[in-house]
Amino acid sequence: MAGRRRTEFGLSADCDVFTIQTADLRVGPFLAQLTIYMASYLVTGGAGFIGSHVVEELVRRDDRVRIVDNLSTGKRQNIAHVSSVEFVEGELADLEVARRAVDGMDYVFHQAAIPSVPRSVQDPITSNRANIDATLNVLVAARDARVKRVVYAGSSSAYGDTPTLPKLETMPTAPLSPYALQKLVGEQYCQMFTHLYGLETVTIRYFNVFGPRQDPSSPYSGVISIFISALCEGRQPTIYGDGEHTRDFTYVANVVDGVLRACTAARASGEVINVATGGRISLNTLFTTIRDLVAARVDPIYAAPRPGDVKDSQADISKARRILGYEPIVSFEEGLARTVAWYRDSQATVA
Ligand code: UD1
Repeated sequence: MAGRRRTEFGLSADCDVFTIQTADLRVGPFLAQLTIYMASYLVTGGAGFIGSHVVEELVRRDDRVRIVDNLSTGKRQNIAHVSSVEFVEGELADLEVARRAVDGMDYVFHQAAIPSVPRSVQDPITSNRANIDATLNVLVAARDARVKRVVYAGSSSAYGDTPTLPKLETMPTAPLSPYALQKLVGEQYCQMFTHLYGLETVTIRYFNVFGPRQDPSSPYSGVISIFISALCEGRQPTIYGDGEHTRDFTYVANVVDGVLRACTAARASGEVINVATGGRISLNTLFTTIRDLVAARVDPIYAAPRPGDVKDSQADISKARRILGYEPIVSFEEGLARTVAWYRDSQATVA
């Protein structure tokens, strides 16, 4: 008997067909062979921090998932706990890899990037290749493979230092670093592909995402991962500037919820949408909150501000509410507590 599976996205209407045999005949022999329609999802950068959380949620919902990752910043270990995913190791800056990755997929979550402002300042060419060349290839491959929708990981850095807070999607952009410019070019390519070729795309602008599996080990890592790992080890973190810079730090589960909603939201195609919490926290407050959580006794070291840094960042999330039905599900405080617990557990496992 043919059937359609109800998912949190609603009925999956026109997806691939999978036939499963079931040995559980309590529902009657006529259901022994059940045909289920499954959508298939490509997560680029699926072995990275945010990508692995998107993968985890799709797998939890029993969706069909393929990952493509070059393992430059991603790690196999990030996805070791998820089963039944297809893994393609490859470089999306190579069009043939992008075509292979996209082949047969219904939806693409394009998460792959070199996500760092200072790294892009130091090495703009490598960063451009990962953030722009690869994005263009994914879009071309998705267009040619008739993918239903591409959800692109944009960045709040696109707003730059424009003085108005919170940041609305209609505000002018003012990228201050190669990274910010590259992410902006990526979203403009997405919109152009929607208008020019009819490929559905949605850009979700992320705001300083944090959570478990964010790698603290590089100077380019996100500040929360750096502060937690330093304070857990009793080391003094560095605060660049006077510590009064602010960010809309967003726990990763909120972003996963936002991008999954963007995949099917009716009025989202061609749009750029902030997904964050809508608040802002200074680096000084961040430092003391983490220090209290881990009961550390060190003070920060203050150093000169980083080139390319934005002073303040805070999202207006009314468009996400309106178009995606999005609402933050995990607060900054709760997210921070979960993240600290995760770092402690993973340190305990390593020790
Ligand atoms: C920027 C983007 C963000 C993007 C990220 C990718 C903005 C507003 N945000 O984040 O959307 O996802 O790039 O990297 O542009 N800091 C310290 N000490 C440290 C490390 C960082 O004080 O050891 C400071 C930085 O100078 C900055 C803040 O913490 O003021 C946040 O830095 P980071 O976590 O690297 O992210 P952004 O550069 O804000």
